[in-house]
Amino acid sequence: MIIALNNKCNLTKEKFIEYQEELQKIKTDMTLILCPTNVFIGEINSPTMEVGAQNVSCTECGAYTGEVSSSQLKSMGVKYCIVGHSERRKYQHEKDDEINKKVKLLLNQEITPIICVGEEKEDRENNNQNKVIIKELEEDLKELTEEEKKKVIIAYEPIWAIGTGLTPSNNEIEEIINLIKHYLPNTKVLYGGSANENNIEELKEISSIDGYLLGGLSLKPEKLDIFLKKIKN
Ligand code: 13P
Repeated sequence: MIIALNNKCNLTKEKFIEYQEELQKIKTDMTLILCPTNVFIGEINSPTMEVGAQNVSCTECGAYTGEVSSSQLKSMGVKYCIVGHSERRKYQHEKDDEINKKVKLLLNQEITPIICVGEEKEDRENNNQNKVIIKELEEDLKELTEEEKKKVIIAYEPIWAIGTGLTPSNNEIEEIINLIKHYLPNTKVLYGGSANENNIEELKEISSIDGYLLGGLSLKPEKLDIFLKKIKN
């Protein structure tokens, strides 16, 4: 089971250090991937955490002020990188062709992309969710070899479930996970969107889920610990 912690744009250096001390109290045999804000990547010092990033530049190193390249992430020990998060698609107007470039650059550096896909509320109301997700997969994975496709992780994050306390039904989640796994056999699929210590008992009934991408819960180590324990029991 893979648990990716997306801290988003939260914490200051002092708070991040305290947070990490709390995280280290969690005992688990699951793969925990910590994706802090970029400026804290060098502060990760936990032997039990894999180092992740929340974004990468769609260019190599060069005159791109404010960007962080895949080779720079690699040099900081980053093993995983979230790409195409709906917040970046919305606020930074990130398009699938840029996401595709990012995926390729990450794979060149042997960093595992965690590619986020998911539908808007309106898409689901119009029963367009499958179409939206397949289109994102086609464009985000364009020109990848079959071998490369096996190396990515997909996170299904319905946009309307992020930070809202809403989640799709288990049947709805399962349908999308099966759709993704049919399109990409051998690929691990995570679920993200208001997953927490209260709904995990229900979510864990979905046997095809390979893990979770956690936003709000990632910032609450005590509740995260409960979440992880409930997955096991
Ligand atoms: P929440 O867990 O806060 O809904 O966020 C999910 C998410 O966006 C993780 O990338």
